[in-house]
Amino acid sequence: MKVSAWITLAFPALLAGCAIGPSAEQQAALVADARKASATLIQTLGGELKTALAEKGPEGAISVCKERAPQIAADVSKQFNFGTKRVSPKNRNPAGVPDAWEAEAQAGLEKRLAAGEKPETLDTWQIVGTPGGKQFRYAKALPVQPLCLTCHGDSATIPDGVKARLATEYPLDKAVGYRPGMVRGIVSIKRTL
Ligand code: HEC
Repeated sequence: MKVSAWITLAFPALLAGCAIGPSAEQQAALVADARKASATLIQTLGGELKTALAEKGPEGAISVCKERAPQIAADVSKQFNFGTKRVSPKNRNPAGVPDAWEAEAQAGLEKRLAAGEKPETLDTWQIVGTPGGKQFRYAKALPVQPLCLTCHGDSATIPDGVKARLATEYPLDKAVGYRPGMVRGIVSIKRTL
């Protein structure tokens, strides 16, 4: 192939890859994948949490949140080729602090919730520029359900055994005082493009 032909062919691809970013179709595919990944995380973790609560009680179920949640997030990350984690402005795990994009995303989702959107389907995404290149970012709201209150509700309603374990394992815990329907945190997903 002549060099001029190569340049003509390659140049639009370079533009699409670097300067302009992913096409509308590519973006739609990223969002669809992120929705699948977050649903997989939520369903797997939720299922294990329900089983553990029924079989081991709330104190025993703490280990699902502590050990299984990060493992499931790692599995989902591998399966879908994303970075996947759970974060919250009122975090329990010290590593669960949101970055600026995540904090803004959750605040936006909370506004949409207040404006009447259903909590179950609240999500948002963006292509952002970073020093390392363009990045796809996605956030899915984690609404508080009645079953979350055992460990994230008002301090008075959390069983004593759970309170004691949380106090030992998470001395800096901020993740209490929630009511059903509030946004507990987000599933945060990203991929460098
Ligand atoms: C059995 C107790 C228990 C129940 C029930 C529970 N959680 Fe948690 N949750 C925890 C613990 C413990 C952690 C800290 C996990 C860790 O060490 O990473 C946590 C962490 C989280 C985090 C990560 C951010 C942070 O604060 O560290 C989110 C988000 C979260 N929980 C949401 C929920 C939601 C939504 C529900 C209900 C569907 C729920 N949790 C039910 C105990 C519980």
